[in-house]
Amino acid sequence: MAAKSLEPGMSLQLDANGKLRHFLSIDGLSRDLLTDILDTAESFAAVPEQSVKKVPLLRGKTIVNLFFEASTRTRTTFELAAKRLSADVLNINVNVSATVKGETLLDTLRNLQAMHADMFIVRHAQSGAAHFIAEHVQPHVSVINAGDGCHAHPTQAMLDMFTIRRHKQQFEKLTVTIIGDILHSRVARSQIDALNMLGTGEIRIVTPKTLLPAEAGTLGVQVHHELESGLRNADVVIMLRLQRERMAGALLPSAGEYFRLYGLTEEKLAAARDDVIIMHPGPINRGIEVDSQVADGPRSVILQQVSHGIAVRMAVMSMAMQQTIKEPG
Ligand code: CP
Repeated sequence: MAAKSLEPGMSLQLDANGKLRHFLSIDGLSRDLLTDILDTAESFAAVPEQSVKKVPLLRGKTIVNLFFEASTRTRTTFELAAKRLSADVLNINVNVSATVKGETLLDTLRNLQAMHADMFIVRHAQSGAAHFIAEHVQPHVSVINAGDGCHAHPTQAMLDMFTIRRHKQQFEKLTVTIIGDILHSRVARSQIDALNMLGTGEIRIVTPKTLLPAEAGTLGVQVHHELESGLRNADVVIMLRLQRERMAGALLPSAGEYFRLYGLTEEKLAAARDDVIIMHPGPINRGIEVDSQVADGPRSVILQQVSHGIAVRMAVMSMAMQQTIKEPG
């Protein structure tokens, strides 16, 4: 986890009226704005139940999915969200694009802007990539960060907040426990920022010492290294994947040992509240961070998170394009 150095540019996210222009990080956004995203997402949540699963808010807009890293959930739910807002969507397959012939990111961007793109949804292995693109786009173009390195994944955090609010309503009374590879997790950083901004009662992280970020003491969380104490009376448990692709060297003894100490099983979950909800941003590594009985069990809301991603991404895209649904009257 890194990128505090990006903070000075975070005002880039808002226009002169304080409205969302780019969505790059939770950091720097107000509680009111985060609540506005959640409320707007509520207004979109019923769209898939309509016979025609569309609203015309972004008709005539062109949205470009620019994914330089693998994705299943984020890319497809952004595409579905854009289509439900009636936008035209371009999916750039970076592996068969001119990037592989040496075209720079900025040249790719300029060419896509020449095709009259209105919004870029960007996933990149480098922390700060979406921010860099936002600094270089034309004034009418918005950039949404779909995950950059170990830095941020703000729409994932907002769909997680949406899921928590749907089940638990009041953040102030909650104990939320985030378990796993905090060091490499852009999801954890964005979740912690959002949970803090929304006034969550207690935020805990549970992680081996080798996967604890150096700045953990500044994050506004309680640090636990043992699963049982971290789970005690938790209302919400969020599991994280071991980000092996970002680990330089051996930070863990073995997958089996990790599961023994930090893997979530029904037995270990007994320490949490009876009505605890279990979350995971995906992809899940069954038998490494979570047992299938828990992942597929009655307290798991993992697939609800995926569904909620569509409404939350509709909200963020429509707000960034300044086209939110107007209240009748
Ligand atoms: N949660 C998440 O970002 O999943 P994908 O990598 O499949 O998009």
